[in-house]
Amino acid sequence: MKISILTLVTCLTQTISALEIGITNYGLLQGATGQVAAGMLDYYEGTKYGGTIGMFSYPYYWWHAGAAFGALVDYWHLIGDTSYVNLTKTALLYQTGDNWDYIPANQSTTEGNDDQAMWGLAVMGATERNFSNPTSDQPGWLYLSQAVFNTMAVRWDDSTCNGGLRWQIFRWNNGYDYKNAISNGALFHMAARLARYTGNDSYVDWADKVWYWLESVQYINESAPGYWAVYDGASALTNCTDVSKLQWTYNMGLIMAGSAYLYNYTLDEIWLTRTINLVNSSKVFFKNDTMYEAACQPAGTCDEDQRTFKAIFARCLGLTARLAPDTNGTIMPWIEASALAAAASCDGGLDGHTCGQNWFLGTYDNKYGLGEEMAALEIMQSLRIWDRPAPYTASTGGTSEGNPAAGLIDMTANETKPLDLHTKDKAGAGIITVVIAATIIGSAIWLII
Ligand SMILES: *[C@@H]1O[C@H](CO)[C@@H](O)[C@H](O)[C@H]1NC(C)=O
Ligand SMILES: *[C@@H]1O[C@H](CO)[C@@H](O)[C@H](O)[C@H]1NC(C)=O
Ligand SMILES: *[C@@H]1O[C@H](CO)[C@@H](O)[C@H](O)[C@H]1NC(C)=O
Ligand SMILES: *[C@@H]1O[C@H](CO)[C@@H](O)[C@H](O)[C@H]1NC(C)=O
Ligand SMILES: *[C@@H]1O[C@H](CO)[C@@H](O)[C@H](O)[C@H]1NC(C)=O
Ligand SMILES: *[C@@H]1O[C@H](CO)[C@@H](O)[C@H](O)[C@H]1NC(C)=O
Ligand SMILES: *[C@@H]1O[C@H](CO)[C@@H](O)[C@H](O)[C@H]1NC(C)=O
Ligand SMILES: *[C@@H]1O[C@H](CO)[C@@H](O)[C@H](O)[C@H]1NC(C)=O
Ligand SMILES: *[C@@H]1O[C@H](CO)[C@@H](O)[C@H](O)[C@H]1NC(C)=O
Ligand SMILES: *[C@@H]1O[C@H](CO)[C@@H](O)[C@H](O)[C@H]1NC(C)=O
Ligand SMILES: *[C@@H]1O[C@H](CO)[C@@H](O)[C@H](O)[C@H]1NC(C)=O
Repeated sequence: MKISILTLVTCLTQTISALEIGITNYGLLQGATGQVAAGMLDYYEGTKYGGTIGMFSYPYYWWHAGAAFGALVDYWHLIGDTSYVNLTKTALLYQTGDNWDYIPANQSTTEGNDDQAMWGLAVMGATERNFSNPTSDQPGWLYLSQAVFNTMAVRWDDSTCNGGLRWQIFRWNNGYDYKNAISNGALFHMAARLARYTGNDSYVDWADKVWYWLESVQYINESAPGYWAVYDGASALTNCTDVSKLQWTYNMGLIMAGSAYLYNYTLDEIWLTRTINLVNSSKVFFKNDTMYEAACQPAGTCDEDQRTFKAIFARCLGLTARLAPDTNGTIMPWIEASALAAAASCDGGLDGHTCGQNWFLGTYDNKYGLGEEMAALEIMQSLRIWDRPAPYTASTGGTSEGNPAAGLIDMTANETKPLDLHTKDKAGAGIITVVIAATIIGSAIWLII
């Protein structure tokens, strides 16, 4: 067992039965989520001797860390525990990279659009939750969110498939030829949230553009009325015609919640219809109202990446219910049943409160890891979505500093000057390819397929 023995504050089995009696019992939920958050941070390296701030232990990747800090921002907001505010803030700022865009030098040779986007989601949450602001010599949460959006948007690639983002940022990486739902769904999602937060309609234009592209390549497949599957992606080499029909929770989650934000901001009924259809289609990820990763969990084949997807989906379900309350009646029963089922899986390990992967068993299934902890934490804290303020905007309580040109300005130069990202990527490519070529084989374990 990898997990250290933690002090049991309360016996989790007692907590679960109490939760069943009344899930609105805030004190018990605080106790239970506190244990799960601590379990998640057992994998954190940043507070250990010799560890790097912002990184989790092997085999967890940099994107997992971005997802985990996003979970902790919401943990602070929804549950009200301030214990990890400094840890979260320090990590989010340490990993920004020199240009304040979440392409830190240590990751830049292997980083994909989806990896960068996971940190973007974390700082977008920090922006909307009015999370403790960085000092004036550091980038604001909004700045970082805009930098992630802007640097992703300039990678839009019309050379194949009539547009879309590639999975990978750099051409020498495996997956550069794949155009996937997560990279494009995350760009769409960030655009939707930035539109609502800033009130700048240029982001709506971007969201429209990405949405129409996702429809055009049928990653959002609207062939059945009211049931719109979200597929994983296709190869740019086939002009995106060989669509992989795997359906992952987090692809659905980001596109569904992005639609809800757009409805909430634009009040355009078309976004409500889209949100409702995607929520309806999310039924494939539930049995008896309990969430599962349908594409791998029943077969027992979920890898470390796939074991984390439910966490992102859970966060997106809460946001969707809150921003498009017409979906609340469908979503809240899922959150309630899944949160209880997830809590029931958290009676494993030497510490007695390690969470499992399968939430149907009423007990631990011997599958442990960062993803299991994170997914349980996100679904359990989503019970509080209506007890705390909705995501703020710049005009309703948000105080984060931004810049619409973030990420496109060279922060490493003395003077403010625009950065030509296309040129920069190409210039680096020749040199780094040589170094990477030797290490790439065998070390390449990427987000999904
Ligand atoms: C905040 O966290 C960082 C890194 O984990 C640590 O070095 C620093 O001492 C902490 N600051 C406070 C005020 O706790
Ligand atoms: C990059 O890696 C080096 C060596 O492991 C480490 O000291 C440094 O803190 C890392 N920087 C970031 C931003 O992760
Ligand atoms: C690629 O697909 C797009 C539609 O997605 C189409 O407009 C374009 O003509 C296709 N290009 C080729 C070379 O087939
Ligand atoms: C709105 O967003 C666009 C796209 O990021 C940006 O170019 C423009 O400067 C922004 N406008 C304002 C008024 O902030
Ligand atoms: C969309 O769904 C329909 C009906 O299931 C199917 O025939 C079609 O092949 C799907 N499109 C793609 C690109 O997979
Ligand atoms: C929801 O999806 C099902 C297919 O799972 C479909 O039969 C039904 O019409 C959809 N409901 C609505 C309201 O669109
Ligand atoms: C769903 O609930 C029913 C009735 O409570 C039960 O018989 C069935 O086993 C449950 N299914 C799963 C997958 O847990
Ligand atoms: C937008 O979100 C807020 C916050 O949850 C909610 O009160 C409001 O009803 C939503 N607007 C619409 C049109 O659903
Ligand atoms: C959302 O659903 C929850 C749980 O069913 C309920 O307590 C809450 O009042 C609902 N909120 C709205 C705005 O419908
Ligand atoms: C947001 O944070 C600032 C700075 O801490 C604080 O002054 C302000 O009251 C907060 N706003 C809300 C709505 O909580
Ligand atoms: C920035 O300006 C200072 C003083 O003018 C100079 O010493 C330094 O070399 C400059 N740094 C860069 C990166 O241009």
